[in-house]
Amino acid sequence: FAGQSASKPLAGRRAVVTSGPTHEPIDPVRYIANRSSGKQGHAVAAALAALGADVTLVSGPVTLADPMGVRVVRVETAAEMLAASQGALPADIAVCAAAVADWRVAAAAGDKVKKGPDGPPTLTLAENPDILATLAQAGPARPRLVVGFAAETRDVLAYAAAKLAKKGCDWIVANDVATGTGTFGGDDNQVHLLRRGAAPEAPLIETWPRLSKTEVAARLAQAIADTLSPPIA
Ligand code: CTP
Ligand code: CA
Repeated sequence: FAGQSASKPLAGRRAVVTSGPTHEPIDPVRYIANRSSGKQGHAVAAALAALGADVTLVSGPVTLADPMGVRVVRVETAAEMLAASQGALPADIAVCAAAVADWRVAAAAGDKVKKGPDGPPTLTLAENPDILATLAQAGPARPRLVVGFAAETRDVLAYAAAKLAKKGCDWIVANDVATGTGTFGGDDNQVHLLRRGAAPEAPLIETWPRLSKTEVAARLAQAIADTLSPPIA
């Protein structure tokens, strides 16, 4: 469309990207979290911006610098990440790369929990909202292309295909995080891109070589551009 150029195929497109972990408080000094450096999600935000997209990066607590040319909204909890992601709509593209904590403590303590004679406390957990599924099922506000990630320790393709079908997103980037693959906190990633096919349980699968997280992000951003803004012949 007007404004589109070969080097900025996503000019005029808006994107929301989630990245990093969420921290769910137990009390003011303790939290529950997933492992996540935020490297892959931040790289995706930067890669979309490099192709011209107007990007809002909703980031949980990470030690990374803000990517250049991206609007960054910092959050702590899954509830805050969901609100900030919804606040970034309307968008053409959503990429959920955050490692959201699946559970939060149902009633976090207002004061630090102290050790005592009664032994360890019992935590009652509540399930967190699914940001990816919420965005993918947002009705008229749904971004045109909704992409999730799936980190699995076994049966990577089967679990990723099930997530694609269940969450209602368009693509899933699946990676194997079994110990020894060096994915967590590392600079490389080996992923499969699953795209929803005619039947949701039979996606189209592309297996990418082991690449740096920056290269995975660049390839993903290019695939998004090819889908949303195919070059005008
Ligand atoms: N996700 C999300 N909000 C959540 C949980 C997950 O947005 N509360 C997104 C992640 O950002 C990722 C995708 O959903 O893009 C898959 O996350 P994953 O943890 O692999 O899936 P879950 O549905 O939580 O399943 P599991 O029981 O394997 O953790
Ligand atoms: Ca999860």
